[in-house]
Amino acid sequence: MKFRLLWGILLVGAFYSQLELVEGAKILAVYAFPGKSHFMMHTALMRELVESGHQVTMITAFSLQKEHLGSNYTEILIEPVYDFWHDVKLNFGAQHLFELTRMTNYDFLKMLEIIGLKTTEHALKQPKVQALIHAKKIEGVFDLLLAEQFYQEAFLALAKIYKIPVVTTSTLGYENHMSQMMGLITPWSFVPHGFMPFTDRMSFLERVKNSYASLYEDLDRLLNYFPKMDAVTREFFGSVLAEVPKVKDMERQISVMLLNSHAPLTTARPTVDAMVPVGGMHLYPPKALPQDMQTFLDGAGEAGAIYFSLGSNVQSKDMPPEMMRLFLRVFGSLQQRVLWKFEDESIGQLPENVMVRKWLPQADILAHRHVKVFITHGGLFGTQEGVHYAVPMLGIPFYCDQHLNMNKAVLGGYAISLHFQSITEEILRHSLLQLIHNATYKENIQRVSNIFRDRQQPPRRTAVYWIEYVIRHGGAPHMRSAGLDLNWFQFYLLDVIAFAVVIIVVGILAIWLAIRLLMGSDKKHRKTKKN
Ligand SMILES: *[C@@H]1O[C@H](CO)[C@@H](O)[C@H](O)[C@H]1NC(C)=O
Ligand SMILES: *[C@@H]1O[C@H](CO)[C@@H](O)[C@H](O)[C@H]1NC(C)=O
Repeated sequence: MKFRLLWGILLVGAFYSQLELVEGAKILAVYAFPGKSHFMMHTALMRELVESGHQVTMITAFSLQKEHLGSNYTEILIEPVYDFWHDVKLNFGAQHLFELTRMTNYDFLKMLEIIGLKTTEHALKQPKVQALIHAKKIEGVFDLLLAEQFYQEAFLALAKIYKIPVVTTSTLGYENHMSQMMGLITPWSFVPHGFMPFTDRMSFLERVKNSYASLYEDLDRLLNYFPKMDAVTREFFGSVLAEVPKVKDMERQISVMLLNSHAPLTTARPTVDAMVPVGGMHLYPPKALPQDMQTFLDGAGEAGAIYFSLGSNVQSKDMPPEMMRLFLRVFGSLQQRVLWKFEDESIGQLPENVMVRKWLPQADILAHRHVKVFITHGGLFGTQEGVHYAVPMLGIPFYCDQHLNMNKAVLGGYAISLHFQSITEEILRHSLLQLIHNATYKENIQRVSNIFRDRQQPPRRTAVYWIEYVIRHGGAPHMRSAGLDLNWFQFYLLDVIAFAVVIIVVGILAIWLAIRLLMGSDKKHRKTKKN
């Protein structure tokens, strides 16, 4: 028995030792889009890669110097930080983000494309990025390109220059247009578009709207956005690449995509092995809170506390003054303590139970046992934190996937979602009291939390595994869907359907003709008989 066990271990050992371990790989990471929340995922990934012994060179919109990643981390900082909100205000006449709730999805898509193109150009112009593009030595400099799956496609041409495979990360998780690049069909009947406020159970009208939005995006990318991004690629890579690749083709060569999502926050949908859900990568064991916050939350006692943050883009301080007074009146009338992320600490007279701070360690606060409600804009990272620490949520979504995240949370029975413009004192107070006193919300989020945390392997390990996998095998063409090489009419089987229709029509015609002939000869027969 013992001998057999030993033999088994030796065999398994021999089997796995044939896999080369990837050590000290040289990774080029491009995270040029200056979205603060996006860096929660990027920073976690960079730290995990460096801690796994890899050398990372990162083109980045924000410096990670204060993370102390050590000598194996090299930073190419994009300076100055591109102010894309300026473009938003210019193009859409929104004075501040509270007005974005009025933006249509089509405007929103247009906005993403504009800021994507602008930030990409801004980053590509940087002398240090130019030096990377025009480098004399390319052989063996890098083993892999890591890029963000977010309107930054021109950077994929770096993989052509250095002849390396690509892994991308998507901070938004699954998106409709990914089926184009991964060669799969996303059924619009039950997969809601990321910007639509739908769940996977849609009414007829919702399915109409969902199909329209999804088709619109697919065609808009191909016909409107890609030509513009192709032009950027040509402008910056035309002098070094004999043949400048098209965005559409570069996207179809991505080896693996790491997605910021995970069940049950994403519902079941078609996928391929190359799309790997790693949602929750930014979650670490809670750290000690700053002393003032710790004291404030400890002192909340049995009544508990409410944590309020609208994220890094929507600033609470820009809230219309009458709305701010409304929030403060309601908070002042509660027994709970309220901790509010508020960018202007000189807000003035506050109720005794309210504390505001410019900056708050959100995940660590949500981990505090007294926090009973999380008032959130419903961003994906915050939603994951709320779910991870099982804190029922009051959602006030503004744009993008926030509506979708909150709708899902409402359907899951662990959140109440309010439309910002229609919040009244009664609605706000009632919603908060329900979330605090009605046990169903806590029970539901506890169950969802348990499922979200249940993984074969922690998400950061999963991400590093797949990055090393792609490096080990020099790409992952074996996981690439052959659907990518078909014509669109072959892909959707339209040729086969046309063939089947022809056979059926020809068959019916043949039968009809045969009957006519028979009946005709029969009539003739009878006629001749009469005569
Ligand atoms: C940096 O990377 C090299 C090569 O992988 C490795 O030998 C070294 O230990 C790393 N240094 C640190 C500080 O992690
Ligand atoms: C608790 O919340 C659930 C779900 O919203 C609701 O159906 C139920 O009526 C609530 N119970 C009370 C006592 O308000």
